[in-house]
Amino acid sequence: MNNWTCILTSEPQQGIGVIQINRPQVLNALSLQTMTEIVEAMEQFEQSEDIRCIVIHGNEKAFAAGADIKEMSGAGSMQMLERDQFAKWERIRAIKKPIIGAISGFALGGGCELAMNCDMLIASESAQFGQPEINIGVMPGAGGTQRLTRAIGKVRAMEIALTGRMISAREAWRCGLVNKVVPVESYFQEAMALAAEIAAKAPIAVKLIKESILKSFSTTLEGGLEYERKNFYLLFSSDDQKEGMNAFIEKRKPTWRNS
Ligand code: CAA
Repeated sequence: MNNWTCILTSEPQQGIGVIQINRPQVLNALSLQTMTEIVEAMEQFEQSEDIRCIVIHGNEKAFAAGADIKEMSGAGSMQMLERDQFAKWERIRAIKKPIIGAISGFALGGGCELAMNCDMLIASESAQFGQPEINIGVMPGAGGTQRLTRAIGKVRAMEIALTGRMISAREAWRCGLVNKVVPVESYFQEAMALAAEIAAKAPIAVKLIKESILKSFSTTLEGGLEYERKNFYLLFSSDDQKEGMNAFIEKRKPTWRNS
């Protein structure tokens, strides 16, 4: 018997790599080991020729209820600094393939932050998002104050992080935090269908679109527009640009070569 806390599967036919967080007894609390497994799984899928899109999910009751409180509770700040457990999350930012979160139940604290590290989110009607760290005397530490603010605006982010209240899937959708809210029975299938649709597109263009959109968070409009334009021109040295445009002109479906 192994002690893995994530289950990895893949659908090579559809080009999808799937990560399931699997600590149901603690509502998928993100231990150090779990986060290492998640990051390494993403890097493994990033390297795989067969995988074009990544889906991450938990179970119906919890995507993840935050960083593992029991693991952190006794630590001092020097130990936390030494451990620097959230630095590892930066590696998710380096993943060029799109990541889709399939969220049901609790997505709290680090769980909400992990969801916000995804590029798109499909939520079940039972999903609840929140940054409840304030209730345990701390604050978001893996991007919550930054990503939530960028995703839903200052006043809403303030309310969520300062009160520790949870918001429903519908409210999250209204705020622009998630792409779509669907019945609990179909949230995973919906995420897989979205992943399959994107996995069937021209892979290099997909990566450069993701990269360019993410760039908008860390640059000026001028810098971002220039970055986008250069990426657009860069695609004209790919076979898939020739194939895509020729297929359009010849009125046929393109066959992507990922080159
Ligand atoms: N860490 C460790 N264990 C956790 C956990 C967490 N984040 N969340 C839940 N659990 C455990 C509980 O301790 C409990 O274990 P036992 O059965 O051994 O007691 C089990 O999961 C089930 O939880 P509850 O009995 O509490 O379930 P509930 O349905 O009554 O409540 C809940 C659900 C509202 C989500 C509640 O569990 C809760 O408030 N969890 C903590 C949420 C939280 O504060 N998250 C932020 C963590 S800090 C963080 O994430 C920092 C960061 O920025 C990265």
